[in-house]
Amino acid sequence: MTGQGLFLTFEGIDGSGKSTQARRLAEFLRAQGREVVLTREPGGSPGAEEIRRLVLEGDPDRWSAETEILLFTAARRDHLERTIEPALDAGKVVICDRFADSTRMYQGLSRGDLRGLVDRLHALMIKREPDLTLLIDMDPDTGLSRAKGRQGSEERFEDFGPDLQRRMRAGFLALANEFSDRFRVIDGGRDMDSVAADVTDIVMQALR
Ligand code: ADP
Ligand code: TYD
Repeated sequence: MTGQGLFLTFEGIDGSGKSTQARRLAEFLRAQGREVVLTREPGGSPGAEEIRRLVLEGDPDRWSAETEILLFTAARRDHLERTIEPALDAGKVVICDRFADSTRMYQGLSRGDLRGLVDRLHALMIKREPDLTLLIDMDPDTGLSRAKGRQGSEERFEDFGPDLQRRMRAGFLALANEFSDRFRVIDGGRDMDSVAADVTDIVMQALR
């Protein structure tokens, strides 16, 4: 437990169902009378939402991986200071759609091995880890076709293609082993209700 609140994150490849499940979990916990802050990265505070546009729109080659690590970490620092920490200090449940594990994967693995750099900057500027991370695992081709079905302008990472999604899936599963104390892996290749039932079971156990 962090302070008096609980810090929950969803991770997984694009289109795995994180946003859908985060929203449903927030509704479930609110119906139980809990105070919930539902937020996302990159973004979650006004300044970080501005950085979101810089990193998610435009050409895939727009930034180097190193510059991206700085941008995502700057956004995360602002999000932490202004949204996450005040909510946890007030005893709320914070549900965040992606967090530092996404930087460990996308910036840490997509263009060479920069995981060490991601971890060093995290230790310097962020420090905090979630209390519980729900990894929604699924087949990358299905995930990518779901993500493409959304038709937005935030497609920079989807445009890196299916090979990146495959490497991200394997990377997330390895990360779940590395941080097995806080990670739970959920099979996302099922209907939304079945996935949501697993999510609520795991979170209710953590809250008990
Ligand atoms: P993410 O946030 O991981 O990218 P979303 O929750 O936005 O994923 O889901 C991507 C798309 O797939 C959305 O159109 C959503 O309605 C759909 N979707 C989510 N979960 C499922 C599921 N279990 N089965 C089928 N479609 C799903
Ligand atoms: P998101 O809006 O969660 O996309 P999706 O719903 O498709 O999963 O995140 C947008 C993209 O940002 C996603 O492709 C992963 C990427 N990303 C990083 O590369 N590094 C990060 O630290 C974060 C938080 C996201």
